[in-house]
Amino acid sequence: MSAVLSTSGVSVSFGAVRALSEVDLEVREGQLVGLIGPNGAGKTTFIDAVTGFVPARGDIRLRDRDISGLPPHRRARLGLGRTWQTIELFDDLSVRENLAVAAQRSTLASGLGEVFLGLWHGEEQVAEDALDLLDLRHDADRMPSELPQGRRKLVGVARALAARPRLLLLDEPAAGLDSHESAELGERLRRVVDAGLPALLVDHDMSLVLGICDYVYVLDFGKLIARGTPEEVRNDPEVRAAYLGGSTADMASTADMASTDMLVTMPGSEATER
Ligand SMILES: Nc1ncnc2c1ncn2[C@@H]1O[C@H](COP(=O)(O)OP(=O)(O)OP(=O)(O)O)[C@@H](O)[C@H]1O
Ligand SMILES: [Mg+2]
Repeated sequence: MSAVLSTSGVSVSFGAVRALSEVDLEVREGQLVGLIGPNGAGKTTFIDAVTGFVPARGDIRLRDRDISGLPPHRRARLGLGRTWQTIELFDDLSVRENLAVAAQRSTLASGLGEVFLGLWHGEEQVAEDALDLLDLRHDADRMPSELPQGRRKLVGVARALAARPRLLLLDEPAAGLDSHESAELGERLRRVVDAGLPALLVDHDMSLVLGICDYVYVLDFGKLIARGTPEEVRNDPEVRAAYLGGSTADMASTADMASTDMLVTMPGSEATER
């Protein structure tokens, strides 16, 4: 499987704060990759660095192309789609219209070449496909303010899909959702990835991330402290220590830590939105 996204030695500083330090991460074709870590670990900064919203050092490649020097709109045009930690829908547009705006931007950006080649499906069809993939068709004509938070989050994901990305970066799509809504979101995200769109999922909801991702990275204070399958990460002593605030030695001596239940919710799982 080839790498869709690969980063090597990605570092970001905000003044004296080293928000990210030498992060190497890969998302491969067909994969849903998780990125977890406590509040302030650098997860959003990583998405910002990849999409070009903060200056970063290191190498960032999208399908072998070095994109590290490009501005955000060029990275978006090359296929990087993202959602934001603070959801922002157009409240005076219906769900369908919110998607149409994103689809329209992407078809305009893709240029006339695709139209002449007959590859252009038209923004309406793209928006309809996104509605279908996330099961939002019966909400299509409603206004975002009429929807519960879980549905609004799904609309945010659908809107990112409507821009026809080749890689999706999701920043805490499950924040503020109850466990039922979170499970529903997870099932639909998995469906999106299985339909052919690889994704990086940042979230605080450990049961969501460990339940649906193929591979997981763990950040703590800007550094990767673990990576592996959900099973490997779940059993990693350093991860347990970072999440539960104790030392690795403490964790090792704690009875019953093989149970994942203790790791389902992180401290500060109500993310601070900015
Ligand atoms: N624009 C900024 N200016 C200064 N410091 C920042 C800025 N953005 C983030 N930081 C700092 O960088 C570090 C990483 O923040 P980041 O938002 O990436 O963490 P996070 O893992 O996304 O946290 P959360 O789970 O709360 O969303 C924190 O110490 C944060 O205070
Ligand atoms: Mg964040």
